[in-house]
Amino acid sequence: MVSLKGRDFLTLKDFSAEEIAYLLDLAGEVKAKKKAGIPVDCYKGKNVALIFEKTSTRTRCAFEVAAHDMGMGTTYLDSSGSQIGKKESIADTARVLGRMFDGIEYRGFSQEIVEELAKYADVPVWNGLTNEYHPTQILADFLTIKEHFGKLKGIRLAYFGDARYNMGNSLMIGCTKMGMDFVGCAPKKYFPDPELVALCQKYAEESGATITLTEDVTEGTKGADVLYTDVWVSMGEPMAVWEERIQDLSPYQINKKVMEQAKESAVLMHCLPAFHDLKTTIGKEMGERFHRTEMEVTDEVFESKQSIVFEEAENRMHTIKAVMMATLEES
Ligand code: CP
Ligand code: NVA
Repeated sequence: MVSLKGRDFLTLKDFSAEEIAYLLDLAGEVKAKKKAGIPVDCYKGKNVALIFEKTSTRTRCAFEVAAHDMGMGTTYLDSSGSQIGKKESIADTARVLGRMFDGIEYRGFSQEIVEELAKYADVPVWNGLTNEYHPTQILADFLTIKEHFGKLKGIRLAYFGDARYNMGNSLMIGCTKMGMDFVGCAPKKYFPDPELVALCQKYAEESGATITLTEDVTEGTKGADVLYTDVWVSMGEPMAVWEERIQDLSPYQINKKVMEQAKESAVLMHCLPAFHDLKTTIGKEMGERFHRTEMEVTDEVFESKQSIVFEEAENRMHTIKAVMMATLEES
């Protein structure tokens, strides 16, 4: 029987296929309970700290709503309103928070920071996104795929864009652990780190998954069940990289033509937020500067029936609830 009590959730590399499947099943159960109005508040009196050194809508709200549903209290800490990093080291922060809270979520920059936090805090630490990984997002993505296609094994997921960053890395890890076919479609310089590819190749050999890295959009879309994309410039990156990214990644935009090359039953997924129109400050500024109305995905595809991005966003909450439930002791 799987038990994850007391475990940190820092990257999917630390979890077996069986453990990931367990978290997805648990997420499905708590989702069904929420829809039926059945409470899951066996965690009353517990408290979790939510550290966000980068901004967030989904992840923060998912942690807060999930924690409240479970009967727990939450404290939100951002870099401007706390001592973290400026006046107090991560190791000291971890030891302070570990004495007050039952679990700690961290979103920020390098993976080393969340690893350090976990090393010094005696309570479970959950990675809410680092430059390298975004593991809670992958659970939501996989729950959504399971709900839509009825399975994970054998699903071909093609990731278009910056495949060497948190989403590309984490999807490759998740897919190869779960027996899915991962495709990274991007210019070569955006391919994931060869060391990580080699590790994932080992997972793939065990699970029956495959890894394809290609610069060719036709090859990338062929036989795909899921076309997945993400912003071309991630949080924390300088605005100056936009020009180069637009130049490099424009051929990898998911538009109607690209979507039509995938399976007829294919879906669009995106971790969000997405630049599919000019209704945001950055989208408008970059769009006007580079004469574009859309970036990584066209509005037509984003708003189409093939888009399951909002189901995916909802599942952030159910899967994050499952992670907290699985790792925390009940009250
Ligand atoms: N997908 C995701 O992590 O969204 P937020 O940045 O809004 O948390
Ligand atoms: N790659 C994106 C993911 C956002 C959820 C970023 O890091 O900004």
